[in-house]
Amino acid sequence: MEKVALLTGASKGIGKTIAIQLARIGYDMLIVGRNRDQLLQTQSEVEKYPIKCSILEADLLTADAPLLIIREVIRVFGKLDVVINNAGVANALPIKETSVEIWDKIFSVNARAPFFICKEAIPYLKESPKPIIINIGSVVDFKGYVNQSVYASSKHALAGFTKVLAKEVQDDGILVHLISPGGVNTEMVREMRPDIDTNNLIQPEEIAELIEFLLTRKGKGTIDHLYIRRQSGLAFD
Ligand SMILES: NC(=O)c1ccc[n+]([C@@H]2O[C@H](COP(=O)([O-])OP(=O)(O)OC[C@H]3O[C@@H](n4cnc5c(N)ncnc54)[C@H](OP(=O)(O)O)[C@@H]3O)[C@@H](O)[C@H]2O)c1
Repeated sequence: MEKVALLTGASKGIGKTIAIQLARIGYDMLIVGRNRDQLLQTQSEVEKYPIKCSILEADLLTADAPLLIIREVIRVFGKLDVVINNAGVANALPIKETSVEIWDKIFSVNARAPFFICKEAIPYLKESPKPIIINIGSVVDFKGYVNQSVYASSKHALAGFTKVLAKEVQDDGILVHLISPGGVNTEMVREMRPDIDTNNLIQPEEIAELIEFLLTRKGKGTIDHLYIRRQSGLAFD
């Protein structure tokens, strides 16, 4: 029987690579982002595999987006097995220059949206034979870097939520994982950390491989958290 995944932030970067990996291992999927052209590009790449991919333009800044996203995945596919909260936004600003608007924006996308996507998804995931939620955190969900106060706080919030969620849905058989990468070679890190040589960055495919590992592994143990860091000479993050 077909397995269905919901993936946010699939229009570029890590999310696009995850979409391709999901297609390779046979998942139908709803992919979400704001940029229609880039979503269509991802769709055309994943549909080279024998799977179905539907797109949804949704802005996670809007409070009703999580409900609309879950309604759409159920309308199109009738079921849901895997949720991957990958969409995220970052900023590099000192605290003294950070406005309420910036704080609200970063928290809405990085913390509020995954929270309510999971909440709306749980009733459908409970019906799946192998339900899995994967939230994409960051090294800043447990570290603090100068000028990344809002980004780090929002990812700490996501990590805290993910820990509680894992316990609350354990009896429903839903596995919940947090992946916390260091610098990955995407537009986001090229804007946030132009100082890092791109040769020293993690490749998006490495995150997609971790997703495949979590989706395909068997066993009695539960993996709560995977932390993957850059392997560079000076800064180990
Ligand atoms: N790159 C890194 O070094 C790194 C390290 C650790 C963790 N992460 C995390 O990994 C995830 C993916 O990051 P990335 O590096 O791939 O970033 P990216 O290339 O900037 O991609 C971000 C994705 O999030 C989507 N998104 C952003 N704001 C949105 C909104 N308001 N509504 C809907 N979708 C929105 C974007 O889609 P649209 O533009 O189409 O809306 C895009 O698909 C994020 O959660 C990020 O925090 C990244």
